[in-house]
Amino acid sequence: MNANEVKSLDSQYLFQNYGRQNLCFAKGEAEFLYDLDGKKYIDLVAGIAVNALGYAHPDLVNTICEQSRKLMHVSNLYLIKEQAEAAEALASVCPDPLCKTLFVNSGAEANEAALKLAVKHTGRSRVITAKNSFHGRTAASLSATGQPKYQNGFTPLLSHAFDYVEYGNIEELKAAVNSETAAVLMEPVQGEGGVIPAGKEYFQAAREICDDYGALFIVDEVQTGMGRTGKWFGFENYGVVPDIFTLAKALGGGFPIGACVTSPEIAETLKPGMHGTTFGGNPMGCAIVKTVIDVMKRDQLVKRSAELGAAWMSQLAKVSSSTVRGFGLMLGLVVDNGRELQSAALENGILVNVCGGGVVRLIPPLIVSQDSLSAFTKVVEDFC
Ligand SMILES: Cc1ncc(COP(=O)(O)O)c(C=O)c1O
Repeated sequence: MNANEVKSLDSQYLFQNYGRQNLCFAKGEAEFLYDLDGKKYIDLVAGIAVNALGYAHPDLVNTICEQSRKLMHVSNLYLIKEQAEAAEALASVCPDPLCKTLFVNSGAEANEAALKLAVKHTGRSRVITAKNSFHGRTAASLSATGQPKYQNGFTPLLSHAFDYVEYGNIEELKAAVNSETAAVLMEPVQGEGGVIPAGKEYFQAAREICDDYGALFIVDEVQTGMGRTGKWFGFENYGVVPDIFTLAKALGGGFPIGACVTSPEIAETLKPGMHGTTFGGNPMGCAIVKTVIDVMKRDQLVKRSAELGAAWMSQLAKVSSSTVRGFGLMLGLVVDNGRELQSAALENGILVNVCGGGVVRLIPPLIVSQDSLSAFTKVVEDFC
């Protein structure tokens, strides 16, 4: 089957809710993808910050094979060894007092859990999020998403419970938070919005404002988490510890799993029966999470992300004279003609993504080679 035949099946049988490029991949290895004709691509998108260990990582492949022979799914009605072990591994890389995890299946679900938890814990119902943010597509996470383009046609959903403030504006946040605020929910770097870092001052102020009013500070680490920004979690770039944070994407290295992480005190709010999910935290997903964390520790991928990213950032800035922003291996190249640069990269067999504001988003696997990064730098140099 070629890509055009896949396209024809797609349009006949699938919802047409994605604006797909006419590319279809048959397999991947490390940071490389191969299309149906065997053409090789350097992938600087990584399934939108998902495939942190690249494709077909041998440790992940082993875990999946072994775990699928043993136990893929068992209900949360029972104790699950792999779930407890994955939560222990996650706690080992989280700052105190964040050591309690609820596993779910996606980023949106992780945010839903965080919001329910904050409302229940504080006994309050209002939530503040940032304009231009992205938190997912389910009812509450879409309501939290401060971008009309995603909400249009679906409102009000739960938007009456949310207030949206300008990202980075401390005074506006101060004015918005009050004694009815259950939580402030923010991304450390707005990903879909255009790779926009919140900044240390803003995040530290948000932490203080939440403390002043007894509101919880929830950080959405769905895209920034698991080493992407050169730290295990994006908030660590700002010296701030949230009350709750959410993960998905890279947590499963390509397997769909998410998590909501908090302190023992806040986690205790949810009593048996108050929240749950059938698939969340199944043995397969959790064995994978543990492997992802073990490999990241063993191969020092977080440090690698910081070092490779910092060097790449200055090279890109040098050859393009454009603004390059972000942390670690989550960079945004602010160019006027992002789509044209994306096409130029594709002509050179390199995949990049264009996100909010036409910014070229660079979110390669954390195992990416220096050669692959340099190949894109060369495209930028020729383009600019
Ligand atoms: C910051 C952030 N939060 C939440 C989500 C939603 O995650 P999911 O698509 O897994 O529901 C995304 C997805 O891009 C995201 O970038």
